[in-house]
Amino acid sequence: MEDMISFENIIAGYGCTRILDNLSFSVSEGEVFGVIGPNGCGKTTMLNVLTGSIYPISGSLLFKGREIGTLASHKRCRLGIGRTWQIPRPFAGMTVYENVLTSSVHGAGLSMEQGAEKAGGVLDEIGLADKKDTLSGELTLLDRKRLELARAMASDPSVLLLDEAAAGLTENEAKEIMSLVGSLKEKHYTVIWIEHNIETMLNATDRLMCMAEGRNVICGDPGEVMESEIVEELYLGKDI
Ligand SMILES: Nc1ncnc2c1ncn2[C@@H]1O[C@H](COP(=O)(O)OP(=O)(O)OP(=O)(O)O)[C@@H](O)[C@H]1O
Ligand SMILES: [Mg+2]
Repeated sequence: MEDMISFENIIAGYGCTRILDNLSFSVSEGEVFGVIGPNGCGKTTMLNVLTGSIYPISGSLLFKGREIGTLASHKRCRLGIGRTWQIPRPFAGMTVYENVLTSSVHGAGLSMEQGAEKAGGVLDEIGLADKKDTLSGELTLLDRKRLELARAMASDPSVLLLDEAAAGLTENEAKEIMSLVGSLKEKHYTVIWIEHNIETMLNATDRLMCMAEGRNVICGDPGEVMESEIVEELYLGKDI
């Protein structure tokens, strides 16, 4: 399978602080690629590099073989890179429908008519159609997480980046989000999925990468990664 995304020795951070330290990995088309790692190891920062919120200091970032390391975020969105945020970021003063419509029109570049159709379809798929006229600032956390997914999907991505889609939810709520995300594979999305829930990462991903201190410390079959000594050491807090 063709590489959809490739990080090659990426160094990146904030100001003078380096967070990603020669990070290298690649994700194939149609793959669900899980990412785990201790708090603060750079998982969200990796997504920030991928979406253009920050630019790498050095290294190469390829999307479908094209270098995109310094491409503006909105252009990456049009290329087909969509993300959800760890802490949901809807336009709180806009309704659910308006939020999703903004993505389909400005993210995917559709006309108002096409965008409305797309937004309606995504809201049905995600199970938010009955709340389409609710102000997004008034939603529960579960619905805000659903809205994050809907907004990302409405931008018509080929790659979906999920940053802890289930964090902060109760067990049953998390299961609901997990099954929604699980169904994305059937829809041929390529997914990069950061989540701390071990069971989900084991069951729902094709490959799993564990990061530590801004590096890829192990990547491969989810079961083998989870059982590896290095992951055990990291999660038991031993020094690596
Ligand atoms: N905007 C920022 N400016 C400066 N430092 C930041 C910024 N965002 C994150 N950091 C720092 O970068 C490091 C990596 O953060 P990051 O959010 O990528 O970690 P993470 O692996 O996603 O952690 P978590 O599992 O807690 O979400 C942390 O030390 C964090 O404090
Ligand atoms: Mg994070």
